[in-house]
Amino acid sequence: MDLTKIKDIYASPNYNSKIVVAGWVRAFRGNRFIELNDGSTIQNIQCVITDSNLDTKKINVGSSLKIQGSLIQSIGKGQTFEIEVMDIEILGESDPDKYPIQPKKHSFEFLREQAHLRIRTSTFSAVMRIRSKLAFGVHQFFNEKGFNYVHTPIITSSDAEGAGEMFQVTTLNNNQNEKKGIDYSEDFFGKKTSLTVSGQLEAETYALGLGDVYTFGPTFRAENSNTSRHASEFWMIEPEMAFYDLNDNMDLAESFLKYVLKYIIDSCKEDLKFLDERLLKDQSQKPKNERDELSLIEKINFTIDNKFTRISYSDAFEILKNSNYNKKKKFNYLINEWGCDFQSEHERFLVEKHFKSPVIIYDYPSKIKSFYMRLNDDDKTVRAMDVLFPGIGEIIGGSQREERLDILKKRINEMGIDEKELWWYLDLRKYGTVPHSGFGLGFERLIMFCTGMQNIRDVIPYPRTPKNASF
Ligand code: 4AD
Ligand code: MG
Repeated sequence: MDLTKIKDIYASPNYNSKIVVAGWVRAFRGNRFIELNDGSTIQNIQCVITDSNLDTKKINVGSSLKIQGSLIQSIGKGQTFEIEVMDIEILGESDPDKYPIQPKKHSFEFLREQAHLRIRTSTFSAVMRIRSKLAFGVHQFFNEKGFNYVHTPIITSSDAEGAGEMFQVTTLNNNQNEKKGIDYSEDFFGKKTSLTVSGQLEAETYALGLGDVYTFGPTFRAENSNTSRHASEFWMIEPEMAFYDLNDNMDLAESFLKYVLKYIIDSCKEDLKFLDERLLKDQSQKPKNERDELSLIEKINFTIDNKFTRISYSDAFEILKNSNYNKKKKFNYLINEWGCDFQSEHERFLVEKHFKSPVIIYDYPSKIKSFYMRLNDDDKTVRAMDVLFPGIGEIIGGSQREERLDILKKRINEMGIDEKELWWYLDLRKYGTVPHSGFGLGFERLIMFCTGMQNIRDVIPYPRTPKNASF
């Protein structure tokens, strides 16, 4: 007999039919009531043992079972139907005294140490189902728009992006010459290689042939930043579009975010409801003035329904400089001089206190942004944009790209980058250059926003952060 997924039973309960389900025991009460979950949905199904001949000794929290029975209306509280058990096969036993995931609330810190089992909790299964759906929504958006999905390399010899510190890839062992240092011509690729920090530069080459493209892959940054929003390995979605200027780029970023959020609202109703209620419970423990004004689902809907605020760096700078927060020295970093980089406290002030909406800041000082961003006529600012979200801060970073060879070369030299390394990137500007733009969305930050999870370590199956690469 085929297995029935618990999700399908909830979708259309077929009473008095014979069914077989398989899953893991979440709870076992009174030697009679099994709460079974198979991962297909946040909901467990109650399986009731009425036949006293059935051996229940090996049924414990954490064990895996295959249950045959009939779906009947439930007279008990809390569920409308249940399975009346006819037969149980124990697939895998579990020691209830040692199994780490007990039917009670565990801290996220504890569950990170049990990352191989935490997927069997309601919270993590909800988060990871949403993660999966979000990835699908991303592909669907770009597919509907006719973009081509490009697989940019993960191992790269170009370390010129300047997005952050890189992890080296090598098979060399003690190949150090005291005088000359390490001889990379002896290394696997015959040169120094690293894990990529971004697929952008390669995506640009494809955009200037295919038109509209995107990458969606893992990226690696060896920054020693131990924050709740930084991971050393994270996934990034990077669209790159020929013939787009910065306004087209901002329009695409905004409609993309709204599309995937709507996709989640429509396709993950139960998981969102569960996470929403979980957060409301958390909020009720806090003093009233520290509670969020909007619930998780309200926040997502608000983002879908309202236009993002667009503001130039210079205007945002004035707002921050003249804010009470700055005057009363409530910021850790005070805003005094034009040209400073905004810290996450400033970004959050703009989004959460001042505008109370997602914000896109554009036209940043060229000094604090990458060499590839298009220089404005003022010679001071570049056509960059960052999308900032409540509770998250920067979720997207992007720009219109510098398509003029002479200016690009000048910027490369100013930043002390070796022009030779970027010969292929410069070629794009020599042969058929066009205005083009793109951006990068941090996938985990988007998941944090959709799930209300506060730490990036809890939205990726096996987080990699400084001093942590377990599992
Ligand atoms: O702003 P970033 O560094 O931009 C780039 O890498 C460009 N090449 C993107 C492009 O234009 N194609 O990174 C883009 C986004 C950030 O806005 C943030 O959401 C996320 O990637 N991000 C991180 N997410 C998790 N952990 C980290 N260490 C991250 N660093 C950046
Ligand atoms: Mg950035």
